[in-house]
Parts: sequence; structure tokens; C-alpha cells
Amino acid sequence: MAKMMSAPRGTRDVMPEDTPAWDRVEGVARDLARLYAFERIEIPLFERVELFARGLGETSDAVEKEMFRVAGAKGSQEEAAPWALRPEPTAGIVRAFIEHGMHVRPGPLRLTLIGPMFRYDRPQAGRYRQFSQWDVEVIGDPGPAVDAELIELGQRFYAEVGLTDAVARVNSIGDGECRPAYRDALIGYFSAHEERLSEDSRRRLRVNPLRVLDDKALPKDLAADAPRGIDHLCDACREHFDAVRGLLDQLGVPYELDHRLVRGLDYYTRTAFEFYVSGREGQQQALGGGGRYDGLVELLGGRATPGIGFGIGLDRTILAMEAQAITLPLRAPLVAILGTGNDHVRRLQIAATLREAGVAVRPDGSSRKLGKQLESAAKAGARWAVIIGEGEALALKDLASGEQRDAVSVEELAMAVSE
Ligand code: HAM
Repeated sequence: MAKMMSAPRGTRDVMPEDTPAWDRVEGVARDLARLYAFERIEIPLFERVELFARGLGETSDAVEKEMFRVAGAKGSQEEAAPWALRPEPTAGIVRAFIEHGMHVRPGPLRLTLIGPMFRYDRPQAGRYRQFSQWDVEVIGDPGPAVDAELIELGQRFYAEVGLTDAVARVNSIGDGECRPAYRDALIGYFSAHEERLSEDSRRRLRVNPLRVLDDKALPKDLAADAPRGIDHLCDACREHFDAVRGLLDQLGVPYELDHRLVRGLDYYTRTAFEFYVSGREGQQQALGGGGRYDGLVELLGGRATPGIGFGIGLDRTILAMEAQAITLPLRAPLVAILGTGNDHVRRLQIAATLREAGVAVRPDGSSRKLGKQLESAAKAGARWAVIIGEGEALALKDLASGEQRDAVSVEELAMAVSE
């Protein structure tokens, strides 16, 4: 036998029995995107490394450690092309926004996509090299109302898939005006305790001091006493954040303030948020996250335009749903069409008629004994079997109760199985 092959490390096959959960989360995402007036956009799965390096930051983990690089065909000019599979979609969407001059469209633009992302990370539970996100972006709206609207939308998504205990953690990380002073405050504070920092944090302290705050190895007391972003906000950022919180309070959207929340990508300004299953913030990675990126469009070569969005990790959402044993809606009842002879044309004709009436149908393509066909139909999860008998007479068998009705017309069939 030939050597068996398996899926690449950090990827998973989604088996048919797992797809109802995926249909559910993607369906909820699409319905909500429509209700919140988002338009779908699609961008390539790979882009130039430079886009990610500039957009997400050279020192972000996604760029520095986790770029999934793509090369062109052997011998082609692009053999060593500097491309990478997208680790996230925001940079690509902003690139498209600039490239297609979308700023002239009536804004703010509300864009959404669902699709795979790639990070060459060390795989573990809830962390894959290929994973799916539901992403939403609002470009051209400085907030603060839209900030509250997106946090509410994220919360609503989790509630609708059954994760009613998901909670938003919210922070403001300031902007170009006030962040430098906050960085300095963090550098001063952590430098005085450098011997207690992990090796990773010591490096972060030099290149990106905010990220020391989300080092899981940071000693609790050090974290608790660290300078807080909201104490260093300039007046404009403070007003913005107060307004976001005021709106959330008035809308009754639950959230928790998290002074350590800094996000892992460099494009963020002001409002930053993440979603967790309540009470599991420490042990579990975020179910989703997002925030404002008021400098990104300009950074990537467009004219200064504010933006905000979030990405919800669908794999982790489904893992959380499984952990809570959330039940999914039953599949539409399935009808099997069975025959007793060389009556395949009739089987397919009846299948076509029932499908036109919106019924899911699985015709048996074999000429096996009726008993065998009934057995397969039951195993495939069929609720009903239509049996074509002598002289093409039709019988309808309820596979749950075993009851059978003889001499039914095609019209009666459609009625009976749709009840
Ligand atoms: P992010 O926090 O890097 O943000 O990713 C968003 C979500 O994607 C995470 O909360 C997590 O649920 C999921 N995720 C990330 N990495 C993995 C992984 N290796 N395996 C499984 N799930 C993962 C962004 O990507 C931003 N683009 C969000 C955003 C949109 N900000 C503004 N607009």
C-alpha cells in the first residue's frame, strides 16, 4: 500500500459531522453582517510581506515570528517572491480601500469577510496554522458611537451562537499624541524590575514596551502596579474613551475594563477590545478581538482616514460551543428514494419533484434488495423512505416508526414529508 498522508501540522479537516457548527457560526455572522449593513469584500489569501510588515508592525509576533511565506514556481521570477499568506485581513482590506480609491464612495464604509487566515505558530489547542475569522471593518468613522456599536455586535454574535457568557474586555491605548509618554512610563517602570521579567519581555521592553503587559509570565504584582494606559491618555483620547464607555453603559452592553489589554498588532489606536468566555480569561485565548486603527490608512499610503474593526476566531468560537455542549438545530429531514427494479429514471424524477418542493432527497443508485436499501437509508439518517414498487406504485415509509402508507401520489408525498 502507498504511504498514507496526513493534513499538515496545525491544520484540520472539518469532517461532515462538524460542519453543522460551522454552518451555524457562519450563518449567524452573515445574518448579523446584513442586519448591521456591512457589505461583503474579498481579498487575496496572500499579499506582499511588506504590507504586513508595515501594517501590523515589524515587531508584532504575526510578522516577526509567524509569517507563512509563499514562493513562486521553481525557476520563475517570483521563486523567491516576498509574499506571505494573510495572517489577518485588516491590512489587505485597507490596501484594497486605497488601491480602489474607495474613499470617494459614500462613507463610512462597512466591510466584512469570512475566511481562512494563516499564522506559522506553534500549534496547540485553539491555535492553528490555518484558522477562520469573521472580520468586520468600518473605514471613515472616527467614533465613538461606532466603537460601541461594534462591541455590541461582537457580543450579539456570541449570544446568538449560544455563548451567552462571552464578555468584552475593553481598554484605550491612546494615539500618536499620548502613547509616547505612556511607553516611556512603561519603560521606566519595567526597567526598574527587569530582573523579574521573562526573556521575551526584556526583548519586548526594548522594541514594543506595551506588549510586556500581555506577557502571560508577567508576575501578578508587577502587572497590578504597572502604569495604566487610561492614566496617560491625552484629552482627546480620554474624551473618546469616556464616550465609548458611556454609550456601552447606556445601551446596557456588559463589558469589563482591562488595563493590560494592549493587542498584538501595532496598528491599533484608542479603543481596543477582546472577547472571552467569562471567568476563563486567564486560561483561554481570546475568542475574538479588535479595535480602532486611525493611522493605518495613512501608514499604507492613503489619505488619513480613521478605521475600526474586529476579527472573531471561528475555530475558537466552535471549541467554546463544544465545551458548553451547545445544541445545534437539527438538519432538515432527509428523504431516501428506493426502488425494486430497474426504475432509476423514476427514482430521479421523483427526487427532482421533491427537491423542487424544497425537500432534501437521497436517491439510492443501486439495484440491491429493498431490505439493504432501507438499511442504508436509515444509516444515512433518512427520516422517510419513498419506495417505488410494482407498476411504479409509491409507498411512504416512516423510518422512525416503521409505519408505511401505500398508494400515495407524488403530490401527497411532498405534503407528507414537509409536515
Ligand atoms: P487578532 O486578535 O490577531 O486580531 O485575531 C482575532 C482572533 O482570531 C483571535 O481573537 C482568535 O480568536 C483568532 N485567532 C488568531 N490567531 C489564531 C490561531 N493561530 N488559531 C486560531 N485562532 C486564532 C486580528 O486579526 C485583527 N485583524 C482584528 C481586527 C480587525 N482589528 C481591527 N479590525
